[in-house]
Amino acid sequence: ANASEVADASVADEWNAENSCDQVIAGNDMLQFNLKEMKVSAACANVTVTLKHTGVMAAEVMGHNWVLSTDADFMPVATAAAGAGLANNYVPVGDDRVLAATAIIGGGEETSVTFSIENLSAGNVYTFFCSFPGHYAIMKGSFKVIA
Ligand code: CU
Repeated sequence: ANASEVADASVADEWNAENSCDQVIAGNDMLQFNLKEMKVSAACANVTVTLKHTGVMAAEVMGHNWVLSTDADFMPVATAAAGAGLANNYVPVGDDRVLAATAIIGGGEETSVTFSIENLSAGNVYTFFCSFPGHYAIMKGSFKVIA
């Protein structure tokens, strides 16, 4: 592993103690999230996900958000998201398949979303992704609820 990979790993460990109800994830100008997997405890009343954009590019060019869906809904939602437009944060309006979503942010910005996981099932694997057009193919990972 090179130095930057080691640094990223230590940041991820620090930010995402397993089963924490407060999760932090970062996206950069290279279409990368720093996490491939997030785990929360089923005991969490609410989960807060904070998204930090560590790059410098504007939201219109390299915007990122954090969207959660079931694994089965991931591709259909990601496809529908492009049509929602930046004004809607690339999140389909009124779409029940979207379990949680942040706003789209640009470089240097930070945003968060707090949501109940009451209707999520422990043992199921959900998918988180960035719904900015074209980003979901790379910017995605697994979201697990641990009993
Ligand atoms: Cu993105």
